[in-house]
Amino acid sequence: MAKGDLPFVHLMGSLGLFKIEMCGIVGYTGSKSALPILLSGLHSLEYRGYDSAGIALAGKEGLWLKRRAGRVSELEEAIGDDEIPSGVGIGHTRWATCGAPNEPNAHPHRDCSGRIAVVHNGIIENHVQLRRKLEEEGHKFRSDTDTETLAHLVENTMASGSDLAQSVRSAVSQLEGSYAIVVISATEPGRIIAARSDAPLILGLGDGENFVASDVVALIEHTRRVVILEDHHLADVTSDNVRIVDADGEEQPIREIAVTWDIAAAEKGGFEHFMLKEIHEQPAAVRETLRGRVDAAGHLTLDEMRMSEEEIRDIDKVFVVACGSSFHAGLVAKYALEHWTRLPVEIDVASEFRYRDPVLNSETLVVGISQSGETADTLAALRYAQHQKAKVISITNVVGSSITRDSDAVIYTHAGPEIGVAATKTLTTQMTALWLLALWVAQTRGTMFPDERRAVFEELARLPGLMEEVLSDDSKTFMVSERFKEARTWLFIGRGVGFPVAMEGALKLKEISYLHAEGFAAGEMKHGPIALLEDGVPVVAVASKSHVHAKLLSNIEEAKARGAVIVAVGNPGNDEVAKLADELLEVPHVTQLLSPALDVLPLQLLAYHVAKARGLDPDKPRNLAKSVTVE
Ligand code: G6P
Repeated sequence: MAKGDLPFVHLMGSLGLFKIEMCGIVGYTGSKSALPILLSGLHSLEYRGYDSAGIALAGKEGLWLKRRAGRVSELEEAIGDDEIPSGVGIGHTRWATCGAPNEPNAHPHRDCSGRIAVVHNGIIENHVQLRRKLEEEGHKFRSDTDTETLAHLVENTMASGSDLAQSVRSAVSQLEGSYAIVVISATEPGRIIAARSDAPLILGLGDGENFVASDVVALIEHTRRVVILEDHHLADVTSDNVRIVDADGEEQPIREIAVTWDIAAAEKGGFEHFMLKEIHEQPAAVRETLRGRVDAAGHLTLDEMRMSEEEIRDIDKVFVVACGSSFHAGLVAKYALEHWTRLPVEIDVASEFRYRDPVLNSETLVVGISQSGETADTLAALRYAQHQKAKVISITNVVGSSITRDSDAVIYTHAGPEIGVAATKTLTTQMTALWLLALWVAQTRGTMFPDERRAVFEELARLPGLMEEVLSDDSKTFMVSERFKEARTWLFIGRGVGFPVAMEGALKLKEISYLHAEGFAAGEMKHGPIALLEDGVPVVAVASKSHVHAKLLSNIEEAKARGAVIVAVGNPGNDEVAKLADELLEVPHVTQLLSPALDVLPLQLLAYHVAKARGLDPDKPRNLAKSVTVE
């Protein structure tokens, strides 16, 4: 499948569409009025983030700026019928990562003089140090964001006589982390400067006008001629010229690509469904969740943690509460939490927890997991726990969501917005955040040797690359889906951490394909589920290597002997699994406790392909909601 001049997958990769975009960016310079173009660009980017939106326009008299918390329509309402005669501006729709989702933290951000405006997508890891230094120099900050540091850094260099492009180049050389940034200044009103590192940014070429955007969807209405800005490159864009330089200021060639997607495909990054796009975003999402957590000495920090080390040391029991896929992430984490911290861990579905009179006190840690941060049962469970004086840590993907208000500490998963109703990238990032939490508790309580902790972290850091490997070829899961799409009943089995993976595999399949699917601990098969087996029933076995591997192999044999067809998730080179399996979905070997992050991937793809083969829309399963805000 070719899109434009490049192979499709390569094009998506180069456009940065396998990367996580937390926010949407659009910029325009040309002879038309910038405002309506920016507003329409923001509307098309809104699915990326909707905490707040803002626009800055540059004119000779200065900058015009309007920002609002909430959706783009609220910004539009605030602008009303105002017509601002400016042909250059930048816009942003935000998915909060640093600073609460309110108007002061909405982009664009300005310098002290109010002449420079900046929008940013990504995380500036060293913003605390930069901000401290800038404040010491006398700069006044108006927001809690990492982004604002950039406006002040640019202001510093411009004050010493450099032009906007040079100043942005100098500013970004001081940043650590990931960024796609776009800057305008009232002192050079025709110009837009764009730069990126590890976050996508593209330029759109027009006739007497040019565009900048985080995403092709914001440009496609105006032009299909795009240039992909490379990492560490900086673009200097005016209405009739585009110049690209590298970090040393060396001029770079401009490589134009024709985009042939329609708007709907562009929103989904060229993928047919959001679910598939989000499945493929998992390596980048996990990378974001891990980003900046370990210092040079191998010491782990969770900066959202507002509990003292003493409080962590006093804990004598952990409860995990969550619903749906988040519950499965909790089940996965229970194994690591107990193994690394030696604390007893109980796990409950949130709807059961507070009605069963659990024994809680000030030495209990309750971990609430909710990607949306709005699930009614999870919120109620955490409130109940706080009432009983327990310490509450929540794990969520949404900054400022309700769950963050009912918690003593929050760990964000940084997965970016998830649109598909079936959780995919939020699940694997929840697992990652929970493993980080477990390592952090172990570090604080001294239950793991530093070398041991470092080894786990190194293994965690390998996960995104291994996930990419698994996701690079889904032809096998597609074949398996074709073979079994008519099967009415599916069983999923696993042992150890493979058990919650089996439950998640079954949940994914039933949610979006409406087939009967159940996940069991393999050892429970003989206590009931085996009665369901007859010729041709698919049994999906999560069979990557573990300390209970031999026992799982026996369970597979028992199922096979009763006519089941075995689909195994297993490691390459494992002949025993290969011999037993009718279909083998291979995943690389990784240390056992972390294996769910890889093992779940073929099961997500399998569910996706079965739903598609059955003519169903995987993004919008019947009767289900993305977030369940009633009990
Ligand atoms: C709904 C969604 C699931 C999700 C569950 C928990 O059922 O369809 O995908 O796992 O809610 O949501 P939460 O936002 O609390 O993680």
